[in-house]
Amino acid sequence: MSKPTNSTHFERAARRVAEGADHHAEAAAIVAEMTLAEKLGCLDGDTIAWPGLIDMGSGGYHRHTWPAARVERLGVPGLDFSDGPRGCVIAPATVFPVSMARAASFDPDLERRVGDAIGAELRASGATYTGAVCMNLLRHPAWGRAQETYGEDPHHVGEMAAAFTAGLQQHVMACMKHFALNSMENARFKVDVTADERALHEVYLPHFRRVVEAGVASVMSAYNSLNGEWCGENRTLLIEILREEWGFDGFVTSDFIAGLRDPVKSVGAGLNIEMPFRQQRALALGDALESGALDSADVEARATETIATFLRFAYVYDRQPSKTVVACTQHRALAREAAVASMVLLCNEGPLLPLERTGLAKVAVLGRLADIPNLGDNGSSSVLQPEVVTPLAGIRAALRGIEVVHSESDATIARDADLVLVVVGYTAEHEGEYIGQSGMSDFGALLPPGDHPELGLPKDFAPPPTDGAAARPVGSIGTTEGGDRRSLRLPPEDEALIAAAAAVSDRVVVAVMGGSAVVMPWLGDVAAVLMLWYPGMEGGHALADVLLGAEPGGRLPFAVPVDERDLVAFDPDATTATYGLLHGQWWLDHQGVAAQRPFGYGLGYTTFAIASAERVGATLRVVVRNTGGRAGSTVLQVYGSVPDSEYERPPQRLIGFRRVEAPRGAVTEVEIPLDFAQLDVRVEGKWLRENTAPRWRVALHAGDPGLVGA
Ligand code: BGC
Repeated sequence: MSKPTNSTHFERAARRVAEGADHHAEAAAIVAEMTLAEKLGCLDGDTIAWPGLIDMGSGGYHRHTWPAARVERLGVPGLDFSDGPRGCVIAPATVFPVSMARAASFDPDLERRVGDAIGAELRASGATYTGAVCMNLLRHPAWGRAQETYGEDPHHVGEMAAAFTAGLQQHVMACMKHFALNSMENARFKVDVTADERALHEVYLPHFRRVVEAGVASVMSAYNSLNGEWCGENRTLLIEILREEWGFDGFVTSDFIAGLRDPVKSVGAGLNIEMPFRQQRALALGDALESGALDSADVEARATETIATFLRFAYVYDRQPSKTVVACTQHRALAREAAVASMVLLCNEGPLLPLERTGLAKVAVLGRLADIPNLGDNGSSSVLQPEVVTPLAGIRAALRGIEVVHSESDATIARDADLVLVVVGYTAEHEGEYIGQSGMSDFGALLPPGDHPELGLPKDFAPPPTDGAAARPVGSIGTTEGGDRRSLRLPPEDEALIAAAAAVSDRVVVAVMGGSAVVMPWLGDVAAVLMLWYPGMEGGHALADVLLGAEPGGRLPFAVPVDERDLVAFDPDATTATYGLLHGQWWLDHQGVAAQRPFGYGLGYTTFAIASAERVGATLRVVVRNTGGRAGSTVLQVYGSVPDSEYERPPQRLIGFRRVEAPRGAVTEVEIPLDFAQLDVRVEGKWLRENTAPRWRVALHAGDPGLVGA
């Protein structure tokens, strides 16, 4: 059926693109129709800074999207931004386990389904564009925003983020962030990160490249500077690497409010849109064009790249699921499935787990986190949940008819219990996006004057009405400023509670909440330890599922050291930091120091043995046997190394993985694609593959000898 003739420029171009026309040529034709004001309007957010700030600070972030690059006269729909990594931040919505938890599933297919669900909820809530794909490499587990990313290994982060992106992009344009080397929180607006060519290309960028190759629509630049240049105006990153080397076909947005310092320079450097306000660029670009400091060709190029992406993703505008998908039964079930698949069993003496319901008369649940909603930080990824199943509520629901007692701190109630569950860990008070005022103290200089006739606060401005849950401003809860952790140990009261529980019972399970590695000197004192993470709104049910027999599917997406001094140094207050070739498990391997629990570690309720492995071209064929007493799953991991390499490099690095589920006694053959490019070396602008044949080792974690071959 032909469309009505009064369709817009954009709609007609989108139709031609769908029929095979070049989206860049079509975009250039649209830009050629634009007035100067319209072109400049494509280069920043559509909201005036001051009213926008007041709205955002009073809960608007959770109420609506943030528009940019809309050109009504030509029908250009622009983008409508909303976050985020653990669910749609427009309230209320399904709260999934945080990204780091989902990373532990090592299950890209599940992650794609989570992306699909979050994408549908975002689109149903009015968004067409999301900052959900946070994927900075976890250089050190103390990073406050560790919970938002996928871990310390580039291959693994890339695979999980690519899967999430594919799911999201069923519904919205996805943005991968924060480009790049943004992995310190308190100092994020100040720190200059130095990385040489090898560290950059071999360690901190390969996962971003993977997601570009998977077709991501957009990139968000980072707040920090890299090698002396702010990431939002860093031509090396935004043009030379992203577009010229990787062939990125999308648009770049700034991180919010403080993502650039030189608005004119940022245009030539490849930043498409200043987000989310009419702010620095609106104030400066007009004059810069007049004086010749800004080239109009750069303005047009940036606007064209953005419109071309809108054309490539035109389906996004046409498909809006109904609001009924938000927090629907299926998505909540998926959140529960993902929480089960994420949980990492770190020890299980006896084995104590799984429990037989029939053997339980009394269960004691201890800890201040056992019965409070604890879904992650209060920063930009925070989702206002419709409700939360806490660990205690989940246990009570699963164990109806069995006595369940609870105390925040009194372990003596656990004396005669058949099971003692101690829930410990962190909250938004201990870690998360840094939203403390001191982090923003110099923002004033980046804002237009409050009395600016167009960009200031309108005289008749009335603060937007707030209502119910959605009124909560980002970071409004008490002292929960987030930020980096200054210790990887649990709070002292938690360690004391674990010791007190261990003193009265040998049937203690510790469930640890948090977004990344916890140093656990007490690990040998209790029967079982489960990494529960921030498990999402259905987390309590998922915990009960696992205790009672659902397979804990998670494997660690980072190494847990015996002592935090075993890791590379991390200074949250540093204004300069050098990122090298080694961190996490790689650093431990290089130093010859054993992890307490290595990268990739996690127990299931059955056991697996790798029977044989054979390399066939770029895949490894592995035969694995379930040697335990029940059905279960494991994650096969392939580590690559280059014998006698001429270069300093990690002794081994992940080049493939595959989750395997198998019935009791089953022998299963799987094929694992091998990503040998992870072993290439970057020298003077070129990739080099050493002449020696790489070796592979297929194993159940980084510290497992496994089977080796070439
Ligand atoms: C964060 C981004 C986020 C943006 C919008 C920033 O403070 O660093 O990750 O997407 O806010 O909420």
